[in-house]
Amino acid sequence: MPEPLKVGLAGLGTVGTAVVRLLQHERDKLVARCGRPIEVVAVSARSRGKKRDVDLKSFRWFADPAALAADPAIDVMVEVIGGAGDPAKHAVETALAAGKPVVTANKALLAAHGHKLATLAERHGVALNFEASVAGGIPIVKTLREGLNGNSFHRIYGILNGTCNYILSRMEADRISFDECLREAQRLGYAEADPSFDVEGHDTAQKLSILASLAFGTKVDPAAVYVEGISSITLADLDAAAELGYRVKLLGVAVKTEAGIEQRVHPTMVRRESAIAQVMGVTNAVTVDAEGLAPITLVGPGAGGMATASAVVSDLADIARGVCTAPFGRPAARMTAIRKAPMQRHEGGYYIRLLARDRPGTAATIARRLAQRQISLESIVQRHDVRAQGEGKNSGPAAKPGDPVPVILITYATSEDAVQKALAAVRRDRVISGRPQVIRIEKN
Ligand SMILES: NC(=O)c1ccc[n+]([C@@H]2O[C@H](COP(=O)([O-])OP(=O)(O)OC[C@H]3O[C@@H](n4cnc5c(N)ncnc54)[C@H](OP(=O)(O)O)[C@@H]3O)[C@@H](O)[C@H]2O)c1
Repeated sequence: MPEPLKVGLAGLGTVGTAVVRLLQHERDKLVARCGRPIEVVAVSARSRGKKRDVDLKSFRWFADPAALAADPAIDVMVEVIGGAGDPAKHAVETALAAGKPVVTANKALLAAHGHKLATLAERHGVALNFEASVAGGIPIVKTLREGLNGNSFHRIYGILNGTCNYILSRMEADRISFDECLREAQRLGYAEADPSFDVEGHDTAQKLSILASLAFGTKVDPAAVYVEGISSITLADLDAAAELGYRVKLLGVAVKTEAGIEQRVHPTMVRRESAIAQVMGVTNAVTVDAEGLAPITLVGPGAGGMATASAVVSDLADIARGVCTAPFGRPAARMTAIRKAPMQRHEGGYYIRLLARDRPGTAATIARRLAQRQISLESIVQRHDVRAQGEGKNSGPAAKPGDPVPVILITYATSEDAVQKALAAVRRDRVISGRPQVIRIEKN
């Protein structure tokens, strides 16, 4: 039997234990595909005594992941600890500096230090593979880095957070409020005890920044991403979307524009018949718009031990075969600082839901403010029938005469700046109650 690829595994949680199981289960097939076995020989985690559903007896134990990374008896390190800082960062740097390839599932680490780590990997001539860091089991990193190597990209967008997609799907299907869905997602283990990282869009932003870097050759820069979460979405928005032929999804979108690269995460109206609109529950999806190709949409599990382990093992298989690709698909020295397109210059259609005060002149005032910013309307709907809070069966009492009337506007393509300024003027005119709801429409 040829020499095995000896793996040091740092992290034995959901992903780490699934990697151990998958490597054991697929052992013979991996030998056939890679020409050599892939074997875990040493592991590291925080607590040695913790009960785990894999047998660790045959692996050497390291209390310190960096010591594992430096161990001459391992050929490659898998980092599935998580977090942008140490011990994950130090362990990855130690392995790369020792000339060992690294496989990681850690989006936070790559978003914060992707370019620096890619430079280090290249300096030492080793692979840094991170398929598992974005969209779990969907091979989107490889698709961008290798599969579409000959194409330039116009836009890449996707559903990159299963928790948010689960909440939006459940709200729509079962007419339950955001808060109720979130509590349920927490009960089912789809959402963290502190869900803000997911529902406020930051998890999606980290993943998007990695995809944008792969697609556009720019240094990973999560600070350049405009981020808005889903907590303001109501059943009234989902109902209106359905009536108008749309569905609301939390999308991460990276697009090349004349003003630079636009990276944004926000609730988005997508055409109901589009591929991405069909993706429900915790499933993820990514659509790639590349030159010379019709859009490609990849759909699949974005998280979970086995789905993520499948990406980790695929990265290990490449290393076992001797494949070493530049981490972001081009030499790190050729990755450029991102030219960030300001959000104010974003152009597209908008859904706007206002609570218009029921008094003469309101409609004319709103129309005037929009016209002043050259915003044209594709449709305008007044919803006299909805209940006071617009929340369907969980709502308050039926609306009374004199209550504010929900008005839904769909604009033709315009700019973010024009919409924000027109709505600020409408608010100053005191013809609406509360804050307008604004959801961007993505052409797809
Ligand atoms: N879970 C998913 O579905 C998923 C999907 C895609 C990507 N990822 C990424 O995969 C990585 C791992 O996620 P996970 O869900 O497997 O996390 P997890 O279940 O929390 O496991 C983390 C592991 O790291 C170990 N660890 C924590 N601090 C450590 C330290 N100071 N020294 C040594 N070991 C330490 C823990 O040890 P103990 O077990 O002893 O506490 C645990 O084994 C993260 O980067 C995550 O973003 C996860």
